This record gives sequence, C-alpha cells and structure tokens, in this order.
Amino acid sequence: MADADDDDDRGGQANIDDDNALPPYTPTPPSTSVQARLAAGGAPSRAAALSALDALYECLPLSKLKQLSHAAMDRLEAEGASGVLHLGYGEVADAALLKIIGVASTALDGVGRPLLAMLDVGSGAGRPCVLAALATPRMQRVVGVETVASLASLSVLVNDAYREHYRPHLACAPEASAEGPDVQFVHGDAIDGEQRDYSPFDLVVCNATLFPKELAQRVYDAAAATMSPGAVLAVLSHAPSGTSLAAFTTIAQLRLRMSWGHADVHVVQRTSR
Ligand SMILES: C[S@@+](CC[C@H](N)C(=O)[O-])C[C@H]1O[C@@H](n2cnc3c(N)ncnc32)[C@H](O)[C@@H]1O
Repeated sequence: MADADDDDDRGGQANIDDDNALPPYTPTPPSTSVQARLAAGGAPSRAAALSALDALYECLPLSKLKQLSHAAMDRLEAEGASGVLHLGYGEVADAALLKIIGVASTALDGVGRPLLAMLDVGSGAGRPCVLAALATPRMQRVVGVETVASLASLSVLVNDAYREHYRPHLACAPEASAEGPDVQFVHGDAIDGEQRDYSPFDLVVCNATLFPKELAQRVYDAAAATMSPGAVLAVLSHAPSGTSLAAFTTIAQLRLRMSWGHADVHVVQRTSR
C-alpha cells in the first residue's frame, strides 16, 4: 500500500481527485503531562490518548471536513456523476471506536489472535485510525484508505505530526510494540479498487452509514473474499445479508452514540473457510 501523498501509486477508477484547498494544519505538540501519561501505558494513557487526539485534530473540526467532502460531491455532480452520497462525511465517535476495539479484542483473544493490525475502509481525515494507534500501543499497524484526495491528504499531515510528536512516547509504554504503532494512509478505493485486500488485518472497521445498501454489501463481500478466519469486521448501520452472510458469525450488535446520533454497529467474525 502506498502513502496518500505518493501520486504515482494512486490507482482505481473510483478515486476522487478533488482539488479542494486544504485548511492550514498546525497541530499542538503534546504537553509533558500527556507525554508522560502516554508513555505510562495502561489506564492512564486512555485519557492521554484522547487529549492527544484532540490536539492533533483541533484545527480540523468536523464542520471543515464536511465542507471538503461536500465540495468534492458538488464537483462530481457538476461533472454529471450521480449517486455520490456515500462520499458524505461523519466520524465514528471516539468512545464508540474504543468500544468496538474492546469487543474485537475479546473476540480475537477467543481465537488466540492478538489485535495487531487494523484497517479503516473510508478513513476520511483519519481520526479513528490515529485514535486506535494512540489508545492501543500494542497495535503494530493501522491503515486508513480514503477515496477523496483532499481528505486523504489531510490524514497524511496528521500522520506526520503523530509520527514526529506522539509515536515516540507510545514506544515507551510497557505494552507498546517496538516503535509504537505505525499508521499509514492511502488514497484509494477500498471497496471495488486496488485497495480491496483486507487479508493483513485483524480488525476492519467501516463507517458505512451514508453508503447505499449495495455498497455496504460490497464491503461485506470484500471482507468475505479476503479476510482471514478469526478476523473481525465492524460495519456501521448495515447488517450482512445475501451470499456473504455464511462467511461470518455475529459477535455483537452495538447501538452506539456517534457525532450525528446513534448508530447500530454490526460486529462479525470471519468463520473458517
Ligand atoms: C462517513 S465517512 C467516515 C470517515 C471515518 N471512517 C470516520 O468514521 O471518521 C465515510 C468515508 O468513506 C469514504 N469512501 C466512500 N467510498 C469509498 C471507497 N470505495 N474507498 C475508500 N473510501 C471511500 C468517503 O469519502 C468518506 O470519507
């Protein structure tokens, strides 16, 4: 997978190369108290992770990210495209993502598999991926794939700040992977395009709330075709149906508060083939 700022590796006909001007990105570095709590690991680091996340996203409020996504949708519609609502923006609430990670970790433990790698299908500006890294220092790899270029580019800027200012402290936490979790953002199509490979991941998350039913089902189809047995998939607002149903066992149905209201989260585990 290529980083989102690597133009040569962008493929996939569904990639949206919008030319939205990016808002200025000037993150606040961590205070010494946040640094110490991140490095301590365990429970104290959870609150520090949320403080760190707020600092990294302080200058990227939801309203600005929605503007970018709406501008991309307007532009596509002006070019004659229809059915672009799935590009609409909304964020999985922080507490909801932490709950999903907790449920997934328990299910993965049940099959003797640690949660080391997570994918966000449609990662927007990357907030859930960065939170997963900050709050789960044992994680080794977190990847987000986003089709709208301006959102993907913003997530790369956030990732630069995460790598420089925050990751080194996570590496000190007792439960951390050697260098702290590696986060990577890719500009691409994670459902029908070149990034449709979920096989390296223990947990795949997709905020499909604005997706039409058929697109959400294609996420399940991609997961059924590529995820390894025991891996966990969490999809917002759409349950599995059709041919992919047989590929999963439902492990939880959660009703969680999000930035726009409550959403049902369908958490399923890939059965053995
Ligand atoms: C509701 S937003 C969720 C953003 C992020 N996951 C979060 O919860 O904060 C859904 C995102 O999926 C993206 N998207 C839609 N179809 C996609 C595809 N085929 N591949 C990658 N991203 C896609 C949209 O552009 C949008 O940014």
